[in-house]
Amino acid sequence: MDFNFSEEQLQIQSIAREFAQKRIAPVAADFDKSGQFPLDNIREMGKLGLMGIEVPAEYGGAGMDSISYVLAMIEIAAADCAHSTIMSVNNTLYCNGLLKFGSEEQKHKYVAPIASGEAIGAFALTEPQSGSDATAMRCRAVKQADGSFVVNGKKSWITSGPVAKYILLFAMSDPEKHSRGITAFMVDTSRKGFGRGKTEPKLGIRASATCEIEFDDYVAQPDEVIGEEGHGFKIAMGVLDAGRIGIASQAVGLARAAYEATLEYSRDRKAFGQSIGSFQMTQAKIADMKCKLDAAQLLTLRAAWMKQQAAKTGARFSTEAAVAKLTASEAAMWIAHQAVQIHGGMGYSKEMPLERYFRDAKITEIYEGTSEIQRMVIARNETGLR
Ligand code: CAA
Repeated sequence: MDFNFSEEQLQIQSIAREFAQKRIAPVAADFDKSGQFPLDNIREMGKLGLMGIEVPAEYGGAGMDSISYVLAMIEIAAADCAHSTIMSVNNTLYCNGLLKFGSEEQKHKYVAPIASGEAIGAFALTEPQSGSDATAMRCRAVKQADGSFVVNGKKSWITSGPVAKYILLFAMSDPEKHSRGITAFMVDTSRKGFGRGKTEPKLGIRASATCEIEFDDYVAQPDEVIGEEGHGFKIAMGVLDAGRIGIASQAVGLARAAYEATLEYSRDRKAFGQSIGSFQMTQAKIADMKCKLDAAQLLTLRAAWMKQQAAKTGARFSTEAAVAKLTASEAAMWIAHQAVQIHGGMGYSKEMPLERYFRDAKITEIYEGTSEIQRMVIARNETGLR
């Protein structure tokens, strides 16, 4: 087993770290406060290859591997979770899905502008009445005699929805077939029949814009079907397996930032004539934070490695992705909680980033499958029972 990273992996890590520390960290609190979408930074990240890390160069991406993606995501998330949310949706939920299931023509047309950061992509599965139970969707795509589909319905909690140019949509094309009646489509948001609702006010990741979207007799052409008709649910689940590695990476980055701030504070802050880090109660917390952080990072890298193998063998990596997401998101929430506690009043103050880490950490336990769904996926795969 080799724990070293390649030259190429270290290079993208260093590019991401430099951009994150110079361009994102100084403005992260302002973006959190205003809730403004960081468009200029995202465009710059695109130029650095960070919006399509695993996308081959012929489709406008950096052509790197899944470990590189994890390393870059960790650096961006350590500076700001909202930037890393936008990055993860572009990279995995959008580009990865199209690369895996799109035709050659679709890849050239829809991946290149998003992987280069010129435009933003989104993924639409969740609806007001269906989140975890994704097959209960009501959004309908009715096939017409000419092969086109007329789409009607709503999708909610769409990350980057307010700014996305293209959206990978999942809609029910044959309700009687349940999960086998769902089809994936490419949506052009400039077209008639597409609408956006209000931007959601959120607890954390406030600079990543989220909204409801609506379809009112939107027409999807036959060449806008992604993969085969009726295969949409499997496409969504396969894409989410990869997406969950992105969220695990995001959680690791956030947890690392909270941990490193805590180390520094516990050395500097004095109480009862000593650094607070010399008290056993603080030391126990620091040791537990370190163990959870390392475990989360290793499991996330393992999942990325499994994904790379799966690209050659076609094997599923659902369990490893769920294990990584569950472990890393719960570690991030716990570490952010302990970090606020060790910082005391300063942890609760907006003068330091700890309260932001605490608010941002919560979403990693919710989106791209809640912790309860991750446990369900792991236990079903392990036991073979349903
Ligand atoms: N890869 C490929 N196929 C898969 C799969 C996977 N990972 N998981 C399931 N399937 C297949 C099954 O093999 C089955 O195929 P057959 O019909 O051939 O038998 C089919 O899909 C149906 O599977 P299930 O019976 O297991 O489906 P289910 O209804 O019991 O649901 C679930 C399973 C795991 C609960 C799933 O619904 C799920 O993951 N729910 C959570 C959804 C989610 O993560 N939503 C987040 C949305 S994105 C987001 O967060 C917003 C954002 O922008 C960041």
